[in-house]
Amino acid sequence: MNTTSRGSFLFLLVIALSPALIAQQDAKSFQTNPNWWKNAVIYEIYPRSFQDSNGDGIGDLNGITSRLDYLQALGVNAIWLTPIYPSPQVDFGYDISDYTAIDPKYGTMADFDRLAAEARKRNIGIIMDLVLNHTSDKHPWFVESASSRSNPKADWYVWRDPKIVNGHREPPNNWISVFGHSAWQWDPARKQYYYHRFYIQQPDLNWTNPAVRKAMYDVERFWIQRGVAGFRLDAITSLFEDPSFSDEDYVLGPDGKPLINAYGDKEVKTDKTDDLPEVNDVLRELRQVENETHGRKVILIGETYLRSIDDLRKMYGPHNDELDLPMDMQVGFINHFDVSLFRSRINEAETEIGGNQPLFVFDNHDNPRWDRYISADHKDDVGRVIATLLFASRDTAMMYYGDEIGMVTTPPTRKEDVKDPIGITGWPKEKGRDGERTPMQWNDGPDAGFSPSGVKTWLPIPPSYEQINVTAEERQPASMLHWYQQIIALKKQDPALHDGAETMLNTSDEHVLSWLRKSDNGEAVIVACNLTDQPQKVSFDLSPQGIHSTEVKTLLKTPGAAEPVSLHSLQLGPYGVYIGRVQ
Ligand code: GLC
Repeated sequence: MNTTSRGSFLFLLVIALSPALIAQQDAKSFQTNPNWWKNAVIYEIYPRSFQDSNGDGIGDLNGITSRLDYLQALGVNAIWLTPIYPSPQVDFGYDISDYTAIDPKYGTMADFDRLAAEARKRNIGIIMDLVLNHTSDKHPWFVESASSRSNPKADWYVWRDPKIVNGHREPPNNWISVFGHSAWQWDPARKQYYYHRFYIQQPDLNWTNPAVRKAMYDVERFWIQRGVAGFRLDAITSLFEDPSFSDEDYVLGPDGKPLINAYGDKEVKTDKTDDLPEVNDVLRELRQVENETHGRKVILIGETYLRSIDDLRKMYGPHNDELDLPMDMQVGFINHFDVSLFRSRINEAETEIGGNQPLFVFDNHDNPRWDRYISADHKDDVGRVIATLLFASRDTAMMYYGDEIGMVTTPPTRKEDVKDPIGITGWPKEKGRDGERTPMQWNDGPDAGFSPSGVKTWLPIPPSYEQINVTAEERQPASMLHWYQQIIALKKQDPALHDGAETMLNTSDEHVLSWLRKSDNGEAVIVACNLTDQPQKVSFDLSPQGIHSTEVKTLLKTPGAAEPVSLHSLQLGPYGVYIGRVQ
């Protein structure tokens, strides 16, 4: 090797080993790097509401393609699309009638391929929503299954004979649907009930039937072969039912009587329908299909509303061969600012899931947006706190479209305007999920730039669009959008914030949540979030962490906040945030 080539070799080595670049590569190359999803940013898109390209008032795939540059600039590594398959749209796509096609409302398979190809050019992966628990009642499998008790698909769904009480027909047991009333629907042709955990139009598949499993694994193969980066497994903990099909116990209120839910039903437990051990067998089988990609990493994300960190850990599998990223709902859905609860839950994710990768999420299409955390003023300050908890933790971060501009939950005010059927059944106690599914607010023009032609959009544009929109926020340096852009850039480029270990600091502070991120090479960053509406003062002693310096350099702080003098004296305004590198 001559001097010049040795020089360039060393130069290349330095470049190759530069932690910042490693971090960037890790986060970027989903096509080549099997670890791309660790500490990445996943952006959930509700396709009906993101961008309408053809002026029918409903978002579509070409609309998403036209916004890929925006997503790339934000720093997104993958987009999760809620279901885009043909569907009667009773549950806006979660009632699927064909798993290997595209609903014409959203476009064509050619549009999908173009979206995937354009996304790939920008190193953005596509995550498909895989609904395994149930299909639409219009799916040919169900139509056939319901046609007789002897057809080839007779056993593809969960059918049961009625219970006869005093000569009357009743459902087989007291199980209730998540969306209200009995979970059993009578079918006059088969003279049997079928089980539906969700809407009547969403019959549950029988996962004890090997033919069902094979059919769904073929669906998984189909999309893997089209190049997707992963799957979000809908309602994955609900696949199995206890074979006894016996009654659940009632959930009792303080008076010892069964609680009555928003739909007027007696609330029952879900011990016989949720999180049964057979789910884990299916997860391993799904992973085996994924391994057929011969090296390209396709990730499995789970919709996992679970009771504890122990239940969450089990979802990774005893040999880490089940879910890659079960959603940790324990952190993001605390729903009020409780410093010690956040501290213990984030710490649990760091220390009690066997070194696996946590996935944090604060928002999705099923829950009110992050403005649910706001109890007084300080909307943007609260938003910056939420974004900091999400992006400055050691996690894969999942965000929901519109979070980055601070879109607010805008529920319907009249029952006749409700689109989500649970809002119709549960009104007024349960207003449904329309409020968090409103069209994306791109600008202050007609239809907020969501529809090209100022048409009637499928859900109304919230009045807030005049102030809260992408174009306006791009112009304002102190906007929420800029905070998201900056903190995401830090997550991806700063080695400590990318994958540095996380240690909680000042653990008896009841007002300020603080933690240290430390990379393998010793770089250290402190993060402090004031979770109260009063100014707070904090001081850090990092000597137990082996850090003796007290000097700190600001990486990001609440706009207008004072520069700290040292780690011994940091002032935080109401809901103030400070992120700084320890020098
Ligand atoms: C999941 C989805 C939700 C849907 C339900 C039934 O919880 O996130 O939107 O209604 O499953 O498929």
